Amino acid sequence: MAARNIGSVNSPHQSSGEPLLVVTNLVQEFSVPKRGSLRNATVSAVADVSFVVDRGETLAIVGETGSGKTSLARTLLGAPPPKKGGITIDGHDVTKRNRATRKAQSRLVQMIFQDPSSALDPTWSVQRIVSEPLQKLGLSRQERDDRVADTLRRVGLNPERHSRRRPSELSGGQQQRVAIARALVGRPALTVLDEPVTALDAATQSQVVELLAELKNEFGLTYLLIAHDLAVVQQLADRVATMYLGKICEEASVATLFSTPAHPYTAALLSAIPSFTPDERPRLRLLGEPPSPIDPPTGCRFRTRCAFAQEVCATVEPRLREVAPGQNVACHFPLGADGTPSTTVPAPESLGTVA
Ligand SMILES: Nc1ncnc2c1ncn2[C@@H]1O[C@H](COP(=O)(O)OP(=O)(O)OP(=O)(O)O)[C@@H](O)[C@H]1O
Ligand SMILES: [Mg+2]
Repeated sequence: MAARNIGSVNSPHQSSGEPLLVVTNLVQEFSVPKRGSLRNATVSAVADVSFVVDRGETLAIVGETGSGKTSLARTLLGAPPPKKGGITIDGHDVTKRNRATRKAQSRLVQMIFQDPSSALDPTWSVQRIVSEPLQKLGLSRQERDDRVADTLRRVGLNPERHSRRRPSELSGGQQQRVAIARALVGRPALTVLDEPVTALDAATQSQVVELLAELKNEFGLTYLLIAHDLAVVQQLADRVATMYLGKICEEASVATLFSTPAHPYTAALLSAIPSFTPDERPRLRLLGEPPSPIDPPTGCRFRTRCAFAQEVCATVEPRLREVAPGQNVACHFPLGADGTPSTTVPAPESLGTVA
């Protein structure tokens, strides 16, 4: 994780309290060849994940490499569809791959990727790239051209100068602006941003973050933001979820999660960044390397790297439950305000069904 101060463009919380994205018990798995065996192994990339994003809200997903963030994002777009679980976007069950949902898909969700050069077709002009999502909306040619020109202007590009160019004739920042224009031109209900500024240089990063914040405010957009850079998260997100080996460990508002993280994993992620850990809290280090998602630890998946793990953590999977208003944590021994475990016995709520 990296922290940089790229200026504050954070906006007031604009959540409507109306669920736009509802993810329920989502599971995504991949079959991979197993060394020395004819049978394949199963990678558990997204393991029973549930969360809600309200209309107008930005939820950030953070976590180490391989924690399942991109797998989660791609599953929301149906590429590939989930192994199990529910996804509802703006009231549409997008796991039903029938003609109606496929037709509505581009208006329900769009994605912006880390690397614009590989996300944009190199043989297409900017005009063609940005107008493509409008093809099925029944607009006249003139309406489409006007909408494309307006959107290009809105993302800081000049339609006269840029619309006939190919992606290779643009800078990285301009390419990402084209990708943003393409994603937003059809006014999708949900925009998924997977590391949207990571591939850009520092100065361009801050401009694109500012643009994303402005667009969010102007059009009341709903973002699911994947970012390893907590400065970007702080500037764009209302709420944050931390993900570890395919599971959500903690979920809270940006202010709460950054000041009083209750999951040892969240605290360890923040500890790596001096400016995000209050002085009075102990710094936590992640022990060892992440285990394989092919054979994740029993009980709590984080326990093999947790400084506070006890016996129960190996046998009982902790349930995500509320420890403070709006702060949900999946840990038997969540951290208190002083940054150390607040209990010595597992909380009954984290154990699930307890007699
Ligand atoms: N198509 C695939 N086939 C097999 N395994 C996959 C596939 N896609 C992802 N995985 C595995 O699923 C796990 C989660 O990967 P994912 O790309 O979702 O992580 P991530 O959190 O986005 O990581 P990063 O921060 O590096 O982008 C990893 O172990 C990865 O190797
Ligand atoms: Mg990723």
